Amino acid sequence: QNFKPCDLVIYGALGDLSKRKLLISLYRLEKHHLIEADTRIIGVDRLDETSDGFVEIAHKSLQAFLNNDIDDSIWQRFAQRLSYLKIDLTQPEQYKQLNKAIDPEKRVMVNYFAVSPLLFKSICHGLHNSGALTTESRMVMEKPIGHDLKSSVEINDVVAQVFHENQVYRIDHYLGKETVLNLLALRFANSLFYTCWNHNTIDHIQITVGEDIGIEGRWDYFDKTGQLRDMLQNHLLQILTFVTMEPPADLSAHSIHMEKIKLLKALRPITYLNVEEKTVRGQYTAGYIQGKPVPGYLEEAGANTESITESFVAIRVDIDNWRWAGVPIYMRTGKRMPNKRTEIVVNFKNLPHNIFKDSFHELPANKLVIHLQPNEGVDVMMLNKIPGIDGNIKLQQTKLDLSFSETFKKNRIFGGYEKLILEALRGNPTLFLSREEIEQAWTWVDSIQDAWQHNHTPPKPYPAGNWGPVASVALLARDGRAWEE
Ligand code: BG6
Repeated sequence: QNFKPCDLVIYGALGDLSKRKLLISLYRLEKHHLIEADTRIIGVDRLDETSDGFVEIAHKSLQAFLNNDIDDSIWQRFAQRLSYLKIDLTQPEQYKQLNKAIDPEKRVMVNYFAVSPLLFKSICHGLHNSGALTTESRMVMEKPIGHDLKSSVEINDVVAQVFHENQVYRIDHYLGKETVLNLLALRFANSLFYTCWNHNTIDHIQITVGEDIGIEGRWDYFDKTGQLRDMLQNHLLQILTFVTMEPPADLSAHSIHMEKIKLLKALRPITYLNVEEKTVRGQYTAGYIQGKPVPGYLEEAGANTESITESFVAIRVDIDNWRWAGVPIYMRTGKRMPNKRTEIVVNFKNLPHNIFKDSFHELPANKLVIHLQPNEGVDVMMLNKIPGIDGNIKLQQTKLDLSFSETFKKNRIFGGYEKLILEALRGNPTLFLSREEIEQAWTWVDSIQDAWQHNHTPPKPYPAGNWGPVASVALLARDGRAWEE
């Protein structure tokens, strides 16, 4: 399929996001010949810089983040696409330069806002007044899209003054991850799961997104944000919707957004009355990660020692609809966990009766474990007979293991960013977030944040290198369950 080439304009081209993620992902797309031949990349920033200087900066970033793994011929091809414009984003008249740089007849203008949302208003107005935009133009933005419902509405309102909703591409990089997308295939292309994906056969679901890193020098951002807003409002709720939404009519953006919104609306609200029994807040103290000592949250660079921001959160979620009535979803996410691990565990119900008493007093239930990170794959935990002609039937729990890297050896698994940038360049909005779903997610998360504030719920300490505070174990133990280890 041929796609229209683009003029990709990156606002904040000399910033961290651009250097760490965007330029690297674009280079990788270049390497695999996935960018249209005529597509150009125009860096925009307020610093005095030339196009040659920008090319040099891009090269240095690639060297740093790709460990010098740069192929010269690919780099030459890539470098030819790059140019730079110095624009003070707060000065509307300076946007006129863009008119000369882009070519709306031949290329679609894709505007990547890699800057603080505080600048969105100026950029939108500057672009609008410059006359550079057409109905084909797109804008791409990523989190944080607000800090709560109110600020998210403000950002979306500013953008909506200039861009129609179908021109706006809101990124959650988890939606570019291979295994998150594979959830659609797993659920909606396999008859095996079609009949059992509901409260009749599923006992409960666990979603774990653990990271061994701390806040990585981002105190100013993280301390105002916390783990609930930084990770759960977006990445975990996205995973949750893909696991639990109803089958969409087709794979169009509209159909998928509708199902996600319906699901988000069915999340039972958590209020100050039940927040203590349904959630756990945690904050790491000094400890060890893979044998190395690491500081506590309050000892991080730039820390304010009074902070009660959470670096861990665990939640019991109930979904009030027909499919999931009585099936709790337990979610946990935290910094300074023992290792990086993102996985979904679907725990099936126990069989009503056990005829294999020689092996197990109670038969262990089946489990479907979907690994997102670090190694993508799916395991099914099943019971099998231990081979042998001797004696009674003896059972053992075994693992049917589908490792993606083993099964799909030839196909490199791309990162989330690469996939999403490619989709934005190609104008396919399916994997991006709609305004309504983000606002719905904020509505639910705000009530938790408000409840903690109302109750003055302090975070419980956990030593770095653990899966959160003991209270997180108790959250499941109260329901007679345990986290998958
Ligand atoms: C980001 C959060 O959205 O996701 C970070 O702001 C977090 O705090 C990161 O570290 C995790 O992403 P990934 O892809 O490494 O799981």
